[in-house]
Amino acid sequence: MIYSEKVMDHFANPRNVGEIPDADGVGEVGNAKCGDIMKMFIKVKDGRIDDVKFKTFGCGAAIATSSIATEMIKGQSIEEALKLTNKAVVEALDGLPPAKLHCSVLAEEAIKSALSDYYTRKGIDPRPLVGEIGVDCDACGCDHSHG
Ligand code: FES
Repeated sequence: MIYSEKVMDHFANPRNVGEIPDADGVGEVGNAKCGDIMKMFIKVKDGRIDDVKFKTFGCGAAIATSSIATEMIKGQSIEEALKLTNKAVVEALDGLPPAKLHCSVLAEEAIKSALSDYYTRKGIDPRPLVGEIGVDCDACGCDHSHG
């Protein structure tokens, strides 16, 4: 399996690893097939992602995608962060091998899950804003589907 230099860089030196103890939103998602888990913490200030940290118990591609995803949404408005797709994450990494595309879905969903938690804490129903969180096998493009 060939990984891009960017993937290797983010895997070897992941950015924004850790926890935010007083986070405004915490999301946790898991991939039922491989058992990998990703946890995302966000701090929101004036409608923007002021800080974001993640913990991934998972494969190298999951670590690399969460790392670059946190860099991408840091400083963005909540609305912009919600629009981050796994495709954009994969592009920012200069691609992922097809068998590893599903790992990038985990990063997108962890962000959505954290934002959903943020809305819920504010007393806002997140569903119309965030949508369903669940692995979208059609969008993912990996070679196996999730039950
Ligand atoms: Fe499970 Fe990559 S193999 S997230």
